[in-house]
Amino acid sequence: MRLAVLGGSGRIGQHILASALESGHQVCALARRPEALPAASGLTVIGGDATDGRAVADLVADSDAVLSALGPRGAKTPALLASAGRNTVAGMSKAGVRRLICVSAAGAFIRADPDSAVLVKLILPTVLAKPFADVREMEEVVADSDLDWTMVRATRLVNTRPTSQYRVRPDYPPPGGWKIARADVARFMLGCLSERSWVREHPALAY
Ligand SMILES: NC(=O)c1ccc[n+]([C@@H]2O[C@H](COP(=O)([O-])OP(=O)(O)OC[C@H]3O[C@@H](n4cnc5c(N)ncnc54)[C@H](OP(=O)(O)O)[C@@H]3O)[C@@H](O)[C@H]2O)c1
Repeated sequence: MRLAVLGGSGRIGQHILASALESGHQVCALARRPEALPAASGLTVIGGDATDGRAVADLVADSDAVLSALGPRGAKTPALLASAGRNTVAGMSKAGVRRLICVSAAGAFIRADPDSAVLVKLILPTVLAKPFADVREMEEVVADSDLDWTMVRATRLVNTRPTSQYRVRPDYPPPGGWKIARADVARFMLGCLSERSWVREHPALAY
């Protein structure tokens, strides 16, 4: 498949690129610093910012599916995810591309989680109010589209080796689950793509 990737220079994004290329996909990645991505057979890198609607439209135009692992990198770009989400939906809708798989954050929805501790529900959304609001807005923008989207709600990200032994539950993390390796998030996203699974759903991942 021809895949368009946002956030390919990031810690999840690098795993997405590696797995996608290994599986034989053709990948086009948008990067603010194209030189941050190593040259690889099957990979095309275009320079640009995810908040630039034209750059995102050009990225997705010739793709069969779009994967996003964007992250705000210390909130340097306020409302990055919502802005990029709007650009992605607009670009895909215009080009007739339907499949979109994005990294989202389980923590942004913790207040409605039936299995989270009360104290965590109070503290986490307060500490991370701005990034969580951005995540929720991104999800709203995408859910309002008629695309075949999947919002992968990751729990706390760690850099351990992938195990593929994670649990998945719709909307909220499996009870007692609170972390997931970035490499396993990437594997799950590529699995959603190949199996056409979790369409218009919010799978939450944890060990
Ligand atoms: N931290 C956690 O525990 C946690 C938990 C659940 C979910 N999440 C979610 O996971 C995601 C982050 O995953 P990660 O650790 O892989 O992130 P990361 O390593 O910080 O990577 C972020 C990626 O986004 C790119 N990016 C940022 N601003 C951009 C812009 N304006 N235009 C184009 N690209 C831009 C970065 O590119 P550059 O290389 O140019 O900076 C980088 O490729 C976030 O969406 C976050 O909400 C995090």
